Amino acid sequence: MKLKGLVLSGGEGTRLRPITHTSAKQLVPVANKPILFYGLEALAEAGIREVGIIVGDTEPEIRKAVGDGSAWGLNVTYIRQEAPLGLAHAVITAESFLEDTPFVMYLGDNLIKEGITEFVEEFRRKDVDALILLSRVAEPQRFGVAELEGNRVVRLVEKPKVPPSDLALVGAYMFRPVIFEAAKSIKPSWRNELEITDAIQYLIDHGYRVEAHTISGWWKDTGRLEDLLEANRMVLEDLVPDCRGTIDDSTRMDGRVVVEEGAEVVESVID
Ligand code: DAU
Repeated sequence: MKLKGLVLSGGEGTRLRPITHTSAKQLVPVANKPILFYGLEALAEAGIREVGIIVGDTEPEIRKAVGDGSAWGLNVTYIRQEAPLGLAHAVITAESFLEDTPFVMYLGDNLIKEGITEFVEEFRRKDVDALILLSRVAEPQRFGVAELEGNRVVRLVEKPKVPPSDLALVGAYMFRPVIFEAAKSIKPSWRNELEITDAIQYLIDHGYRVEAHTISGWWKDTGRLEDLLEANRMVLEDLVPDCRGTIDDSTRMDGRVVVEEGAEVVESVID
């Protein structure tokens, strides 16, 4: 099955100010690498080649960082969203790029340790209209929350005050083109956005098949400063020390340090 990718990198980074005052929140580095790049790597690893990136006001910065996508073996198309009117609005905006090809939607501020390869493979194997990614969390009220019957999703609520479960929606979704009809049929939410959770609920209510894939590894929505710091710690914990550059005799390196090829370290202590 041919699949396309849709990466959401629009919106505003207001919640992370002053860190994102001059830059898109998706470009904030985690362990020296923009968050967005982890997502692009995950898509490439899952065998996706054609990727549309939704951009807003920070389009020039995103374009400069990602270019044509060839660094990841991707073919990137930029899709301008007039304003951050919601994740389902972003899907509608991308319709002429996606056409009738099933696709994976990836939120550009999400970091998923295990990547999305297994998730994408499950969608390829199954005859479902949408597949969502879930993770058990301590504070479900901060996310979209799902209620399941077996693997089947029966209800989704966006940031509920009283969560029906502790299963949060992680920022990766698989859709068949029927999602366009759903996104166009829903009304804006209390936060005045076309919510992807409502679009998926529309699919459920109209008899389409929506299933869930639950992950056990760590995952971070880097929307808040403390989440960014936590993501940074978690990536560094998994870092495998590697030295391919040159280091002089008076330099000392401790712990998990990576020195890239071509780098030169002189008279330093790296801890
Ligand atoms: O991180 C997972 C959560 O992401 C899910 O649990 C929620 O169900 C889902 O609604 C979403 O919640 P957020 O409120 O955290 O989404 P946020 O506004 O941060 O947007 C996610 C990404 O999509 C971010 O990179 C900005 C981009 N975006 C957002 C909007 C609203 C767009 O490109 N266009 C938009 O219109």
